Amino acid sequence: MLIHLNQKDRQFHLTNGQVSYIFHVMKNGQLGHLYYGKALRHREDFSHLQTYDVPTGATTHIYADDPAFGLETLRQEFPAYGNSDFREPAISVSKATENHIPNFTYESYQILEGKPRLEGLPATYTEDNHDASTLQILLKDEFLQAELQLNYTIFLDKPVITRSASLRNAGSDELVIDRFMGGSLDLPDKDFVFTHLAGTWSRERHVKERRLETGIQSISSLRGASSHHHNPFLALKRPEATEHTGEVYGFNFIYSSNFLMQVEVDHYDMARLTVGIHPFGFKWNLEPQASFQSPEVVMVYSEQGVNGMSHAFHALYREHLIPSQWRKAVRPILINNWEATYFDFDEEKLVKIAQSASELGIELFVLDDGWFGKRNDDTSSLGDWHVDLNKLPNGLDSLAKKITETGLKFGLWFEPEMISPNSELFKEHPDWAVGIPGQHYTLGRNQLVLDFSRQEIVDYLYDKMSTIIKQTKLAYIKWDMNRNITEAFSNNLPVHQQSEFFHRYILGVYNLYERLTSEFPHVLFESCAGGGGRFDPGMLYYAPQAWTSDDTDAIERLKIQYGTSFAYPVYSMGSHVSAVPNHQTLRSTPLQTRANTAYFGTFGYELDPLKLTEEEREEIKEQVAFYKAHRELIRDGQFYRLLNPFSNNETAWMVVSQDHSEALVGWYKVLATPNPKKQQLLRLSGLDESKDYQVTGSERTYYGDELMTVGLQLPTEFNGVNGRSFERGGDFQSQVYYIRSIEDKLN
Ligand code: DGJ
Repeated sequence: MLIHLNQKDRQFHLTNGQVSYIFHVMKNGQLGHLYYGKALRHREDFSHLQTYDVPTGATTHIYADDPAFGLETLRQEFPAYGNSDFREPAISVSKATENHIPNFTYESYQILEGKPRLEGLPATYTEDNHDASTLQILLKDEFLQAELQLNYTIFLDKPVITRSASLRNAGSDELVIDRFMGGSLDLPDKDFVFTHLAGTWSRERHVKERRLETGIQSISSLRGASSHHHNPFLALKRPEATEHTGEVYGFNFIYSSNFLMQVEVDHYDMARLTVGIHPFGFKWNLEPQASFQSPEVVMVYSEQGVNGMSHAFHALYREHLIPSQWRKAVRPILINNWEATYFDFDEEKLVKIAQSASELGIELFVLDDGWFGKRNDDTSSLGDWHVDLNKLPNGLDSLAKKITETGLKFGLWFEPEMISPNSELFKEHPDWAVGIPGQHYTLGRNQLVLDFSRQEIVDYLYDKMSTIIKQTKLAYIKWDMNRNITEAFSNNLPVHQQSEFFHRYILGVYNLYERLTSEFPHVLFESCAGGGGRFDPGMLYYAPQAWTSDDTDAIERLKIQYGTSFAYPVYSMGSHVSAVPNHQTLRSTPLQTRANTAYFGTFGYELDPLKLTEEEREEIKEQVAFYKAHRELIRDGQFYRLLNPFSNNETAWMVVSQDHSEALVGWYKVLATPNPKKQQLLRLSGLDESKDYQVTGSERTYYGDELMTVGLQLPTEFNGVNGRSFERGGDFQSQVYYIRSIEDKLN
């Protein structure tokens, strides 16, 4: 049983032996929060966990005869602002024509086995009802005639609880929602490090940390996309927590548009976390009988440090978020022509690239931007989804056929949400672009955004894309999105509903994804937004992999992939080997290091194979064979971060199979050290202490405890004495080790 009830005191305890989440109905009928963290033994009454103390004269209280009962000092479950709680709330709603302080009081509960899907929104799911239980709490506001439903799902074997909320207008007056968060959590203290992932184009998801302090600290996006700049992920970790030990709470928001994740620390050092759609500029008109569903918040609790938190996210997303058909499917090693040709290609060139890639063992050819309309640079043709016969005179089908004849599958790039001002589509439908008619339209990469809040536009794109998928027998689609939304305005919405635009837009994007992925489940979708501008769990629900960053430099990727792995499985990160000097940094790194970084992701190449030397081709054949031999391990294994690139000259990480029989270790050193340490040891994680392991390149074996407590001895580094033998050296060096237990090798 995952959900315990104490009927008398109306308390709810969700626990699976790993975590506990406890709340209750307070004396005013609203919900109060009692505890979230490491699992507690169930008991009949948890009311002593409520902090209920006579406050100072400065605080407000609801009842004249109970000066201690004020919402300012009590932890709450889904707070409203207006009668004695002065912190930022989870909900703000009133009638369109009358003001009101929301007062949602407890009505009833319901327990469901498994987890219902969220209508129109990406969310975690269960296929087997035994995997999770869901508690739904119904609250009502009598004046508003509104029903608030809070959904809590606890997973059977994971330290994970997910939350969402929905609001139904059960009355006959229109309601206006000003703020509706996915979840709110009041923690009793502020002794945490606020940890998040921030950056910009080409350097996404760098790890940032700061101590929680009194006041509000937040991360957010108002760009119409989850963004390059802040990922909808936040961890609160105890100051003493490390990668491997200590308490960490992790939160992720399954949403791809404007979001807010904030922690408000009050004057008693209580920390209120609020996660949801960004309330700035948001207002939703709720007609009688209509409902509004919030996106879902994922909450993870770990006692095994930051790695423990990541393991829970990774397992959850592998098993309960990405499309189930890709859970156990091997993803093809791809070659993408973007950095090889940019817009400058024709059929002959592409087929030659594919032919050459096929000889290297590569499995999928992806034709990137520039195949449609008259797109010879980034100033035109978005929206004109018909093949450019100047470049491809025999059409896409012929190209696809020729590519397939080389032995590769064929995949195609789209940027469905965009429109170029000089496109045929814009001439025909100028009102389809997002913007305020008659006023200035701001460009981004020379393009405008299509109004995906309009169903007929989503339908139009569905027709275009599904026709091409069928005719060209596509195996893969890269869905790009290269600008953020400005002048957010739909020609289709009345003025009072313009504040709904951003949410309606992303619902349109989800709708197109939903229709295409359910009609073509065999097509692998890779999401992309100028690289990693929409790398979020909302996208992973449809597209099991995402282009991690436009930055393909192996050294920059160490930080980007390290940060991304905080929440997202390595097998969701598109990572390619590209040419040197690198196109984003002009840095030249060894081919071996480029592959050693890219192995920890969904592997591919983004270079012109016709420009490779014979030696490089031989090396790439070995890389491809190596990845093929280990990609199931990378897909299913447990990922451990070992050395942090943000504080070290070295980075290290590893993937260990679930049965601990094998592992893949990646070690990287950015700059060479003169006269380096004589003994360089890398302590591993996640192995079986008593198993005897063999490490590639060495005949001798090591027990798991040696590798984890003493460490793996790195080979001799160049020490400045010419003529002495050394196995590694120079800037940007790296090693990848395959480790296998002897017993399992024999079996
Ligand atoms: C941005 C993407 O991230 C790149 O990989 C490439 O597809 C370009 N767009 C094409 O315009």
